[in-house]
Amino acid sequence: MEILAPTPENLERAGKLIAGGGIVAIPTETVYGLGANAFDVRAVARVFEAKARPSFDPLIVHIADLEAVELVAEIPSAKALALMEGLWPGPLTLILPKKASIPDLVTSGLPTVAVRLPAHEIARAVIRHAGVPVAAPSANPFGYLSPTRAEHVARLLGDRVDLIVDGGPCPVGVESTVLDLTIDPPLVLRPGGLALDAIEAVIGKVGLRERGDARPTSPGQLESHYAPRTPLFLRAAGDLANLEPSGKAAALLFDPRSLAALEESPAGRFFQEKRVLSPNGNSLEAAASLFAILHELDAGGFDAIYAERLPEAGLGRAVNDRLYKASEK
Ligand code: TXA
Ligand code: MG
Repeated sequence: MEILAPTPENLERAGKLIAGGGIVAIPTETVYGLGANAFDVRAVARVFEAKARPSFDPLIVHIADLEAVELVAEIPSAKALALMEGLWPGPLTLILPKKASIPDLVTSGLPTVAVRLPAHEIARAVIRHAGVPVAAPSANPFGYLSPTRAEHVARLLGDRVDLIVDGGPCPVGVESTVLDLTIDPPLVLRPGGLALDAIEAVIGKVGLRERGDARPTSPGQLESHYAPRTPLFLRAAGDLANLEPSGKAAALLFDPRSLAALEESPAGRFFQEKRVLSPNGNSLEAAASLFAILHELDAGGFDAIYAERLPEAGLGRAVNDRLYKASEK
């Protein structure tokens, strides 16, 4: 496995490799993806194998231009078109009726396909060079924390991938929002890097699945996912000050105010390490640092990580979703 800087030559090489059946890790604005030619069943099978991902969990197909949608999916409604024109490129994945060109392995046999036009220039350049739509899940072992840096991919997947394109840290930091447009009102299957408000400003009210809803139609909704190996416990904001953890414990706090409150409380001394997701107390910043900090804490030899919930506004919903799925139930 090689890690390459995103020079024009290397982006071309990465694209050609994908076109020829290789599997390549590429940065997107959300997390690193592990890309394969979406029309090539053998390449897609290698992606499932590299991630140890069950084949019932379908992949997202990435395109570089709006026009490419018609290669993979139907545009089922005016709402779908409005979202594509208004919010793509960006961290929004749309579930659409699939075209026959997309192999069943990509969609786990579903009649629908997940499609995304990423905002990251490097991702789009690689897809253009590939000349085909690129099926790409997050570039991590199934169920583990998502990768937001090239070194996360190198550490987690190593030689199971052909190439890693290093685009630096992913600016959004949590996966795309997944929206099912085959029903009306559309339904959010996974809260993510695009806040609900932005979607509702374009198409009006959308549905939201509640946590613990039975029958996941999207395995991103599995109750346990995005999880570190270290047990993680999720608590209400401010609640860490009421704990007395034994062993080596880490605290994951939203902002400096929470940190100050914990340090002033008697509980403060029970935590060997205290980390803040957002120095400025906003959910965008918290999302961008979430996985990188969790990767570090997971490597830190702690017996437990205690995290506090964020306010649900903005990307707080997506961060809370990831923390919930990472946590012990
Ligand atoms: O931001 C992202 O979405 C990243 C980057 C690489 O684009 N990708 C990503 O892929 O998070 P992955 O495979 O880790 O998550 C894709 C999610 C899964 O929860 C999957 O179940 C859901 O999308 N999904 C894919 N196709 C679907 C379909 N046809 N119907 C319902 N859910 C689908
Ligand atoms: Mg994933």
